[in-house]
Amino acid sequence: MPHDTCPPWVGRLLLCPLRRWRQDPHKLLSPFVQPGMTVLEPGPGMGFFTLELARLVGATGHVIALDVQPEMLEVLGRRAGKAGLADRLALRAPVGTSMAVGDLSNSVDFILTMAVVHELPDSALFFREAAACLKSGGTMLLAEPRGHVKLAAWTKALSLATDAGLQVARQIPVASSHAVLLIKSVR
Ligand SMILES: C[S@@+](CC[C@H](N)C(=O)[O-])C[C@H]1O[C@@H](n2cnc3c(N)ncnc32)[C@H](O)[C@@H]1O
Repeated sequence: MPHDTCPPWVGRLLLCPLRRWRQDPHKLLSPFVQPGMTVLEPGPGMGFFTLELARLVGATGHVIALDVQPEMLEVLGRRAGKAGLADRLALRAPVGTSMAVGDLSNSVDFILTMAVVHELPDSALFFREAAACLKSGGTMLLAEPRGHVKLAAWTKALSLATDAGLQVARQIPVASSHAVLLIKSVR
């Protein structure tokens, strides 16, 4: 695992209920996710946001959560099972530097990428694959922690997203984070 990959013990800390005071999953995600949607969440960790995504897509929707660390996915899968949400959640792993999501081409309504891009081995490839997954008019909430990710790195990430065909729709207020909503333009 690359040295900058968030370890499982940090994954557990990220589940801390106090985090809701500053990054409330329902408040943050409900403007973007409706019942029946297909949602992709790269780097969900143990699922601080994932269970809310699964609630919001409802029984007819789908959430695909993709993490490089099996331990993150194991804990997420258990939590989803206890919450009665496992039926609408698919857990996946990347293949090498790729998300390996060719089967999702033009089928995803919304992507949540929260505190992940700075850990990725190839963020240019990530944005190309994410853009290919999104439907025309689909959106991505992209957020990076201000503590880890300096302005130059954030600006670089936005330029890679733009190169991949995503446009910045607007800034989104996410505590302690750089954050924007990206949109795949309607063709
Ligand atoms: C800082 S954690 C953020 C977790 C979650 N998004 C949150 O905000 O609570 C970053 C997550 O990205 C995952 N990750 C790192 N590299 C990845 C890759 N190449 N593909 C998928 N997930 C990756 C890590 O395993 C970790 O679970």
